[in-house]
Amino acid sequence: MPLPALLEQRLRLPLVAAPMFLISNPQLVLACCGHGVVGSFPALNQRDTGGFKRWIEEIEAGLAALEKPAPYAVNLIVHPSNPRLQADLAVCVEHRVPIVITSLGAVKEVVEAVQAYGGLVFHDVTTRRHGEKAAEAGVDGLIAVAAGAGGHAGTWSPFALVAELRQFFDKTLLLAGCLNHGHEMLAAQMLGVDLAYMGTRFIATEESQAQPAYKQMLLGAKAMDIVHTPAVSGVPASFLRQSLEQAGFDMTALKTRHDQGRLKPLDEEAKAWKTVWSAGQGVGGIQDLPDTGTLIERLRDEYHQALARAHNLHA
Ligand SMILES: Cc1cc2nc3c(=O)[nH]c(=O)nc-3n(C[C@H](O)[C@H](O)[C@H](O)COP(=O)(O)O)c2cc1C
Repeated sequence: MPLPALLEQRLRLPLVAAPMFLISNPQLVLACCGHGVVGSFPALNQRDTGGFKRWIEEIEAGLAALEKPAPYAVNLIVHPSNPRLQADLAVCVEHRVPIVITSLGAVKEVVEAVQAYGGLVFHDVTTRRHGEKAAEAGVDGLIAVAAGAGGHAGTWSPFALVAELRQFFDKTLLLAGCLNHGHEMLAAQMLGVDLAYMGTRFIATEESQAQPAYKQMLLGAKAMDIVHTPAVSGVPASFLRQSLEQAGFDMTALKTRHDQGRLKPLDEEAKAWKTVWSAGQGVGGIQDLPDTGTLIERLRDEYHQALARAHNLHA
């Protein structure tokens, strides 16, 4: 699909660096946008709406000093448990945040408030039903969060999820889950996706505000170390086994727990994520802690090499 006008000609790679709770900050966003990739952060990474507004102002000032930066995105948690939603949305409207990424609820009023000033709304989904509801709410893009992703991952294969979403959604489609390299971004495009959406890979960068021990744990981890469990958030999310063990979770009990549950209150969840660290199954493909610019330039090389290889494929 053609990209919306706001993104057309503004990206040097078809990539969004995904918003991550406690990880993304203005330095990471600016490094991404400066290298032609959409950078993003959750509004809740700042303690209050005033702090969130200061981050937006810092990002806007940083972008103004860059030549042709990519647009940035803010993540809003659209869930009754988020008491800041209206105040944070008002800041997005005031500053005309180019892209708003909504999670946990697709609400027409939020979509309309952003579209009214010319912004785009992309919404996270893990199933066809979620996708249909978001499409009804009028979102500009769907983020297919497939099995193995970091954070509140889905359980569907990316092939199944993308194929079903494309049956009814012809706007911008993004794919999340275990993407770390340029050739994986191209593979996503081959499935019919417009933009790759990468989270875990960006934890392991100099700019990310993950604690050093978190970054080191991630570098030592493999896919088998990722535990998808509702025990921390109330709803299933992916965590590093080593951090669950350090936090004292009973690993045998976790393996037998498969309930879907309900999202815990946000303050409880926030506290838990400080000591229990999330990552996706793609961890095994991450071996270094580069600065974000170096990572993006490498992704570009890999992407173009994969494109060249694709020309030589035979039926
Ligand atoms: C540590 C961590 C925190 C996350 N926090 C959020 C969040 O606050 N809001 C959100 O929409 N997604 C969040 N996610 C999900 C990411 O935005 C993205 O969907 C996911 O990381 C993509 O999969 P990958 O990690 O395999 O690349 C988080 C993911 C991780 C790993």
